[in-house]
Amino acid sequence: MSQQPASPITHRLKNDNWDLHQIAERGGTPESMIKGTITREGFADYLSQAVHIHRALDVALFKAIVAMPELAPLVKESEFFDQHFGADLAYYNAEPATDLHPGVARFVDHINTHADQPLHTFGLHYVRLGACNGNRFVARKLRSVFGITDPSAGMMSQDPFGEAQRTQWAEFKEGLDALDLNDAQRDELFEGTRAAYLLTINMDHEEFQSAEQLLKDHGKTLDREVFEQGHSVHVPASTN
Ligand code: HEM
Repeated sequence: MSQQPASPITHRLKNDNWDLHQIAERGGTPESMIKGTITREGFADYLSQAVHIHRALDVALFKAIVAMPELAPLVKESEFFDQHFGADLAYYNAEPATDLHPGVARFVDHINTHADQPLHTFGLHYVRLGACNGNRFVARKLRSVFGITDPSAGMMSQDPFGEAQRTQWAEFKEGLDALDLNDAQRDELFEGTRAAYLLTINMDHEEFQSAEQLLKDHGKTLDREVFEQGHSVHVPASTN
């Protein structure tokens, strides 16, 4: 009997995570960034914390491509994020924080304890790369609020790829879909994406809230149609 071809893994990564994505957009820091209510100092503080997450993920990503060389062609040098956070920190005259917020320490710890699982790590990376689709809107808003006119200044962490964003994201997804993954490997990748959304939502929280708790709290207000039409701001429904 012939087997059904597996549906593209990126459909699952997108379609089965829309609920956590909608919650993530509403969270304190992302919401204050997309609405432009965050101050310049607040943004610099965010960078000084988040840089630790991206550094840890860069190291784990490097280990992942060594352990699973078929992942290597999917990763461009510009997709390691420490360099982008470093450039923005320099722009705002800020340094990496020495005292980590509990939500940031938790995220770093998760990355380090899963660094021996290449596909889980790749799921974490998928979400930071995918988030640049929305972060381009964040960058546009914050450039206008902070009065930044140079497109490469102060927003590299949010908009590192500029006009190449959409093509680069589409190529990355095509590369993922072309991998020959078994069901367990697909689950490991999916779990990485789920964890990334959850840890991002919890970045502002002292106490960790599980997916079950978050979905219970937000349940009645989650709306897939509204989400797909325009996210938390009016953005075109099809941007990728
Ligand atoms: C700040 C508010 C945000 C807005 C306005 C926003 C908006 C968007 C938009 C317009 C897209 C592309 C269209 C689509 O694929 O449906 C997108 C994709 C994506 N965003 Fe967001 N986003 C936000 C926050 C976040 C956050 C905080 C995360 C990470 C936790 C995130 C992760 C992703 C991912 C992974 C994708 C790719 C989806 C996929 O194809 O799997 N976004 N976002």
